[in-house]
Amino acid sequence: MKFFVDTAEVDDIRELMETGLLDGVTTNPSLIAKSGRNFLDVVKEICAIVPGPVSAEVAATDLAGMIAEGEHLAGLAENVVVKLPLTWDGLKACRHMTSKGIKTNVTLCFSANQALLAAKAGATYISPFIGRLDDINLEGMQLIEDIRTIYDNYAYATEILAASIRGVNHVSQAAIAGADVATIPPEVIRKLVSHPLTDKGLAGFVADWKKTGQSIL
Ligand code: E4P
Repeated sequence: MKFFVDTAEVDDIRELMETGLLDGVTTNPSLIAKSGRNFLDVVKEICAIVPGPVSAEVAATDLAGMIAEGEHLAGLAENVVVKLPLTWDGLKACRHMTSKGIKTNVTLCFSANQALLAAKAGATYISPFIGRLDDINLEGMQLIEDIRTIYDNYAYATEILAASIRGVNHVSQAAIAGADVATIPPEVIRKLVSHPLTDKGLAGFVADWKKTGQSIL
């Protein structure tokens, strides 16, 4: 499973790149607003740090606007993936980008039918939002499972990018459900490694090793 980090904070991205486990980045207008920085500068900076795919979302909601903005964003760096909303115009823009060889991430997916449409439009990634479905008492993870089944039934190449991840259990559950990618907030990525029994076990090994009085080197 590929790990993307869901943030527009460049310092977090630099830190997580050092793990060697980061495959890409996703941003959205809310994350850009939170960063307080210029969108185009942030995208260029992230693309220079991360060699993998970096999703940058259009702001327009009409077809002509999405195409113009998407092509501009795609021109910023080779690894930009144009993020488009799951609307009819977004799907048309997706078809256009795909025909031009531009990678796309169709976002704000909340149903299996929407995911089917995105695959038919040639999306590189589909982003089902797990957490936001859980928020309204629906089963976010069931959507990942359903999309996996549909895409496998028809051998669609669109990758399932599990989004709106709220905690570590979402990551493992999305992996079990067969998501190709998880886009994860930085604080959740940091928690993935932690287990109290690992900490306890390591403290025990360190203490016992000390008692041996030996050294390996
Ligand atoms: C996906 O690309 C989105 O940026 C993100 O996962 C949305 O998550 P949220 O529901 O926590 O805002």
